[in-house]
Amino acid sequence: MHVHRYERIWMTFGIGMLLVFLTIVLVAAFADNMNPPSDMMQIDPTKVASTPPFERPGLRSLGNGRYEAYYVARIFAFSPNILRVPLGSTVTFYVTSPDVVHGFNIAHTAVNMMVIPGWVNSATHTFRTPGTYLLVCNEYCGIEHQTMFGSLEVR
Ligand code: CUA
Repeated sequence: MHVHRYERIWMTFGIGMLLVFLTIVLVAAFADNMNPPSDMMQIDPTKVASTPPFERPGLRSLGNGRYEAYYVARIFAFSPNILRVPLGSTVTFYVTSPDVVHGFNIAHTAVNMMVIPGWVNSATHTFRTPGTYLLVCNEYCGIEHQTMFGSLEVR
């Protein structure tokens, strides 16, 4: 089979670029240990409502201005829907889903997670600015996805 010279150059270039991109992805994943923050803790998605601490979602104080917040994201609401957070506190959010994939994004912060049934995802943020923060689901999860939001009141 005859392949035109220009065709061969382009094929070589295309395959070469794929190898370069693959190398970058593999180096980032393994050498730089760059992984999604999810999938660290497993949970039975059918037993979320009876698995501590998710059976009682909400804020827990660890002392010294540090808190843990446990959230359940389900179609189509966050539990707790409103969370009151003392100003200046550092909160680690743990979130899981009993049904489908949801998003957990606190606007104007770096907290932006995918919530996958069967897994607990987590992220930490220090709230230095008072106000009401919008919490939204940013993964399409069904017909009322756009109604799935909550808020954090930082005072
Ligand atoms: Cu939950 Cu979109």
